[in-house]
Amino acid sequence: TAQDVTVTVDADAPGPQINRHIFGQFAEHLGTGIYGGVWVGADSEIPNVRGIRSDVVAALRAIRVPNVRYPGGCFADEYHWRDGIGETRRSTVNANWGGAIEPNTFGTDEFFDFVEQIDSEAFISVNVGSGTIAEAADWMGYMTADTRSTAGQERAANGHEEAYEVPFLGLGNESWGCGGNMRPEHYVDLMKRHARFDRNYNPEQAEGGERPMIRVAVGPSDDDPRYTEAVMKAWSDRDWSWSIEGLSLHSYTVPQWPPSLPSVGFDEGDYALILQTTLKMDERIKLHSEIMDRHDPEKKVALIVDEWGVWLAEDPGTPKGFLQQQNSLRDGILAALNFNIFARHADRVRGANIAQMVNVLQAMILTDGPKMVLTPTYHVHRLYLPMQDATLVPVRFEAGSYTHEGITLPGVDAAAFRDKAGGLWLALVNLDPNQSREIAIDVTGLAVTAAKGEVLTGDNVNSLNTFDAPDNVAPAPIAGTVTDGTLRVELPGKSVAVLALTP
Ligand code: AHR
Repeated sequence: TAQDVTVTVDADAPGPQINRHIFGQFAEHLGTGIYGGVWVGADSEIPNVRGIRSDVVAALRAIRVPNVRYPGGCFADEYHWRDGIGETRRSTVNANWGGAIEPNTFGTDEFFDFVEQIDSEAFISVNVGSGTIAEAADWMGYMTADTRSTAGQERAANGHEEAYEVPFLGLGNESWGCGGNMRPEHYVDLMKRHARFDRNYNPEQAEGGERPMIRVAVGPSDDDPRYTEAVMKAWSDRDWSWSIEGLSLHSYTVPQWPPSLPSVGFDEGDYALILQTTLKMDERIKLHSEIMDRHDPEKKVALIVDEWGVWLAEDPGTPKGFLQQQNSLRDGILAALNFNIFARHADRVRGANIAQMVNVLQAMILTDGPKMVLTPTYHVHRLYLPMQDATLVPVRFEAGSYTHEGITLPGVDAAAFRDKAGGLWLALVNLDPNQSREIAIDVTGLAVTAAKGEVLTGDNVNSLNTFDAPDNVAPAPIAGTVTDGTLRVELPGKSVAVLALTP
């Protein structure tokens, strides 16, 4: 029997803007995330533009990826950008990820070509671990200086006269771990120097420019407050000579380490456990926000969750260290729950990057040679497009509950928002895999009589899309109906729906 839930949308109440950059993605030199997934080379039989596969580009354009974090991850702190520019490329060993040979055929210029092809923006992570400040500053020169400088001329000689835009700059990656295992104090000293010297020479993105670059410092891992405290304290004590605009949080959905839960064929126990784990994101953001609020009550520094997603066991038969996992309806549901959490913290969380874009961890896209498939997580990104840069609208509801073998979760989740054109939207998640819920929608101060949109659900929580059955989990239309003067929508079990609310 369906349990009735009333969602009251306070349409007139003011809310913060939901930054579109919470829908950012992450593409690391890892496994087949770049080679095979994005880059096939100009000579490939797979349709491509200058070596970048066209099917992947078309799919990514359709979900308007706001930014791409690159080149890592752990890879970034061992990356030497000069290996990946010009005619002659150096082959190196990708020691973090399976010891694969890194041919460096995909480097800075190819990355920016990719970003332009998908109409996105660059989030570059500089090497703070094994690189020097001079190397990072030179890379910035290569990317952002104009052709009066030798750095700009070198870029022009490699085919791109115009300076690139670098709106986001990561000052290292996981410096508490794979990025050099630094004490917070040591990292803070290094961070200040990078913040000062990794200059963006593009006048619009330089400090004081129209769209100044956002420098993202390494921040916390999960619930560990040490980096949050140290970086934010340094920031509040800063003088004129440096600043940062973002603090990174890395938080994966992984109930046990090393990751061992399967990505296919799992049961309801795994489903409940994974959703319970993912919902901890909310508490985690609160924990770090409280520390940030103490040092930065005006919320000038953004919390950027630049690595998140479900981390499962590597699929059997895939190369070790390639972090290849399938993606199920459950993973789409957990993506939606995280978007709703980020939206509710929109005043502080102004960016996030799901890990990772193609073929790695919670991917939007899987490829195998010429074949490509869109995952349930991809479809959730498409459903949530109207949330990009929308305004959060407060909602009230009794979530009810869903219980499985001692794990109790909210039955439903809801988030409302108003898009730039003024349209009102409601995102709904039914976590209960076994029961549909009847959702009564009550909008204060507005005569809303129609709810129309798309819903993503499937036969089972572990339903997935494969190369042979690519549309097994795909969005379908959903609409509400008015009965007894109330707008109601029947929300299937284990589903995500995004609905436009109209008069
Ligand atoms: O996304 C995979 C890895 O997870 C990244 O390289 C690293 O930053 C994190 O530990």
